[in-house]
Amino acid sequence: MDIIKARRSIRSFLPKKIPDECLSLILEAAQWAPSACNQQLWHFIIIKDNNLKTRLTYEAGASKLIMKAPVVISVCYHSGNIKEGIQSASSAIENMLLMATSLGIGSLYLNSFGKEVKVKQILKIPDEIFVVAFILLGYTENNPPPPKRRPLGEIIHENYYVEHRKETFSHDADKWTLNSIRDFQERYCRKTDLGTRMDIINQMELKLFKILLSKEKCDNILDIFSYDGTLLDYYPDTKIFSLNLGNETSLFTTYAANKKIEQLIFEGFIPLQDNSISNAFCIFKLERIPYEDFHNLFSEVKRILRNDGKFILFFRSKNSLYGFIHTILRIKFKDDIRKSGIYSFFGPYSPLIPAKVISSLRKAGFSSISEEKFFIIPPLFDDFYQLLLHYYASDGGSFYHREHRKSFIGKLIHKIIGLQKICSTKAGSIVVLTAKK
Ligand SMILES: Cc1cc2nc3c(=O)[nH]c(=O)nc-3n(C[C@H](O)[C@H](O)[C@H](O)COP(=O)(O)O)c2cc1C
Repeated sequence: MDIIKARRSIRSFLPKKIPDECLSLILEAAQWAPSACNQQLWHFIIIKDNNLKTRLTYEAGASKLIMKAPVVISVCYHSGNIKEGIQSASSAIENMLLMATSLGIGSLYLNSFGKEVKVKQILKIPDEIFVVAFILLGYTENNPPPPKRRPLGEIIHENYYVEHRKETFSHDADKWTLNSIRDFQERYCRKTDLGTRMDIINQMELKLFKILLSKEKCDNILDIFSYDGTLLDYYPDTKIFSLNLGNETSLFTTYAANKKIEQLIFEGFIPLQDNSISNAFCIFKLERIPYEDFHNLFSEVKRILRNDGKFILFFRSKNSLYGFIHTILRIKFKDDIRKSGIYSFFGPYSPLIPAKVISSLRKAGFSSISEEKFFIIPPLFDDFYQLLLHYYASDGGSFYHREHRKSFIGKLIHKIIGLQKICSTKAGSIVVLTAKK
C-alpha cells in the first residue's frame, strides 16, 4: 500500500541516466503482469534516442513531455482483440509504474502520444500491433502532493449499480451547479503539475488587460476565480486576495503565482469584511459559472467593495463573432467537454450575453456600470487555430502544445489579429464592464 500510494505522475525529470539493472527490473515487472488467456502479446519499445523523441513530438504530435524523460517506453499489443490488448497492457503498465516507484524512479502513464499511424511509422511498428500508451521514466526532484481520490462510497456499488451522483460534462455552464464545477475542478486541476499554465488567454487579450489595469490605482485586489493563476503576475505589488471554488484549485493557484497572495474559498460568500477592497476583478472566469449564481456573487462583491471601489469584469460575448465561432465549435465537437481539449480545462465555458450580466449587476445593487467592447476579430481565434492544428496532428490526442505550429493560414490569422488596434468598438468580442456602487 505504501508503494501504491507513493506512486505519482511525474512530469519533470533530471537528466540522470536510469541504470540498466533498474530498467530490467521495470520490464520484468511488466513481464509478470496478468494477460488475457496468458497470451502475453505485448511489446515494449524502449526509446532513449533524442532524435526519435523529437520526431515523435513534432511529426506525430506527441506530448512535449516525452522530450524531458530520459527513457520512454511505447507499450504495444497485438490488435487481434483490442479490449483484451488494452486490459493486458494496462496491467503490465501498472506493474512497471509500481516497480519504478519502488526503485525511486519517477514515471508517467501517457495517453497523449500523438497520431498512432505516425508513431507506428516512426517506430517501425507492424500493422497488426497497436500502441496502447507511452510510459515516461526518469529520476525527479519533483514530488507533488497526492491528488485527492474520490471517496470509496462514491465508487463502490453492492451487487447492483446504484447512481451515487450524476456527472455533468456539458460546455454550457448553466447545466452545472457551482458544486459540480467545484468538484470537477478539484480533480481536473491535478491532471497536470500544480501551477502549470492551462488557461487559454491570447497575448492581445493580456495586452488589453494590462492597459486597462495600468489605469487603475489599486490599494488591494480581489481576483475572482483565479485558477489557473495566469493573471496574478500582472497585478501590481499590492495585497492580492485570490478567490477560488476549492482547496485544490487554491493550491494550484498558489503554485502558479510568482508572488505572495492570500487564498480565499467561495462557498456562497466571500470571506472578507464589508467595504474592504478597492478593486475586484473577474477576468474571463464569469463564463465558467451558471447565470443563476451571478446574483449572489455580485451581491457579495458589492458588499466587500469600498464605496469608491471598482468591480471590473472581462468576458467574451455571445453576441459577437466569437459567440458565432464558439457555437460552430460546439456543433463540431459536441456538447461534451471531454470531446475536445478546447476550453475544458476548468470545466464549462460559455460566452455571455452582456445585457444579462449588466442586469444581474444592477439587481445586485451596482448603480454605475460602464460597458466597452474590444476586438471585432477575437484574438482567441489565433489560439483556436493552433489548438485545431494540434488536435488534427495528434489525432485528437493532444491539443495542448503552446509552441506555434507554422502554417500559412496560421501566420495569416496571427497577422490579422495582431493588426487590430486596441480601442473600443461596438462589434467587439470582448466585453469590459466597470461597475461601481
Ligand atoms: C490511461 C492514462 C492516461 C494518462 N495520460 C496522461 C497524459 O497524456 N498526460 C499526462 O500528463 N498525464 C497522463 N496521465 C496521468 C494522470 O493525469 C494521473 O494519473 C492523474 O492525474 C492522477 O495523478 P497521480 O498519477 O499522481 O495519482 C494518464 C493516466 C492514465 C491512467
